[in-house]
Amino acid sequence: MEMRVYKGDLTQEKADLLVVGHFSDAKVLSGALSILDKAMAGRLAKLMNEDGFKAKLATTFFTHVNGEIAAKRVLVVGLGKKEEVDLEAVRQAAAVAVNVAKECGAKTVVSELHLHGGLKASDCAQAMVEGARLADYSFNKYKKPSHKSPKLFAIVANDGRDVRSAEKGLALGELAAQGTIFARDLVNTPAHDVHPETLVDVAKAIAKGKSSIRVRVFDREALKRMGAGGILGVAQGSDHPPYLVHMTYKPAKPSKKSIALVGKAVTFDSGGLSLKPADFMMTMKCDMAGAAAVLGAFSVIARLAPAVEVHGIFGAVENMPSGGAIRPGDVLTAMNKKTMEVLNTDAEGRLTLADTLSYAVKLKPSFIVDLATLTGACVVALGEEITGLMSNDDKVAAHVLSAAALAGEKMWRLPLEKNYKKVIKSQVADLQNIGNKWGGALTAGLFLEEFVDKTPWVHLDIAGPAFAERDIDAYTHKGATGHGVRTLSALLRSL
Ligand code: BES
Ligand code: ZN
Ligand code: ZN
Repeated sequence: MEMRVYKGDLTQEKADLLVVGHFSDAKVLSGALSILDKAMAGRLAKLMNEDGFKAKLATTFFTHVNGEIAAKRVLVVGLGKKEEVDLEAVRQAAAVAVNVAKECGAKTVVSELHLHGGLKASDCAQAMVEGARLADYSFNKYKKPSHKSPKLFAIVANDGRDVRSAEKGLALGELAAQGTIFARDLVNTPAHDVHPETLVDVAKAIAKGKSSIRVRVFDREALKRMGAGGILGVAQGSDHPPYLVHMTYKPAKPSKKSIALVGKAVTFDSGGLSLKPADFMMTMKCDMAGAAAVLGAFSVIARLAPAVEVHGIFGAVENMPSGGAIRPGDVLTAMNKKTMEVLNTDAEGRLTLADTLSYAVKLKPSFIVDLATLTGACVVALGEEITGLMSNDDKVAAHVLSAAALAGEKMWRLPLEKNYKKVIKSQVADLQNIGNKWGGALTAGLFLEEFVDKTPWVHLDIAGPAFAERDIDAYTHKGATGHGVRTLSALLRSL
């Protein structure tokens, strides 16, 4: 699907599907819709009325055209209340248009730029590109596509200034969408095709031919020398060896500031000897979604061109039961020398992150952001669509939350309650890897905090939003979502 922005007259566009927006609280037709309605001699308003179309957000009205305008069909997309139109409404509207185009087999889609309220043309175009591209996504590695994509999605603006601004947004939207799709593909690929060594290859492939990106890989022997007991312990039960991967992006103009992006990279989480029930194991190829988000961001980082140095770090392992696997009761020593009693081998993410975060701290970054499908408890607390954010630094937390809001990824801050630290104190080690029955997302966050020293740090528990067990909205279909990549892209651009 090609995407373009240009200045044009909607009545003259020879599209298979012409798309305009409408507000649920509009008394009269306005903007592009009123122009189309006039060209169609009031027929559009009459039909919408007959259908009882209310223009609630992401609802649609669809009609064929009798030659009154150049397009074959018109799609009116509801944007909700005029005052409430935000970038997410715009993203959903563009996604809905692509979904309808796929259903009716439209090859060319031309949409107005949904520029309303105080929104900027560049942000609107970026949101439209993201919505359209992500709605168009399907995972076809192991089957034939069930729908044909449109060939063209064009965005039409009324004035030249908006076009120039929208073109910039289009380029950014393409990067954010491409990074997200990169992550979706990695997460959707079954665990028999994504082993820890596969993630090493992916990191190397991203860096290949790019002078701004370097990759360092630490294998099992190196990890032993470094004292990475968490990663080594979790990997013990698997036939596939673990790796620590460290990617570095350096900006063209050297910068003293650097940030570290850390991802959980468990390529399959069976639970280990504390084996998961079958139903819970079904989607556990998604347990490397944190690393996939970091890799997704790195796949476009050279073109995003952030002004600071960026580290991407993950400890890739597979969590399997076997005669060699770690046992409940075993004690592991992390890279920062803290000891961890493994009471449940299914709480493996924090064991690997203990080492990965310790490693990140040594790089002395301005701040660390980690993304991890860490706890089912976070999904219980916030549901499937919202990431739990925990942080030891209010400023960095606010910064990440505002990037997430701009990117349309839902995140909510949870507390790192000091009083709960006592439930992860161990009888035999510095820490134990599970708390009590309650507040599991928080006790996992507190566990991680033990490995970041004083470095400003944001922990994103993406266990809910990383993988959709059903269709969530117009551009988040069942399967991997690529959640986190758009927030990271927005964050990197803002530094
Ligand atoms: N990978 C899981 C968490 C998860 C759950 C991710 C649902 C995605 C969707 C993690 O390793 C895990 O198993 N956590 C345990 C921790 C518990 C044993 C303290 C959990 O949440 O049940
Ligand atoms: Zn687990
Ligand atoms: Zn896990």
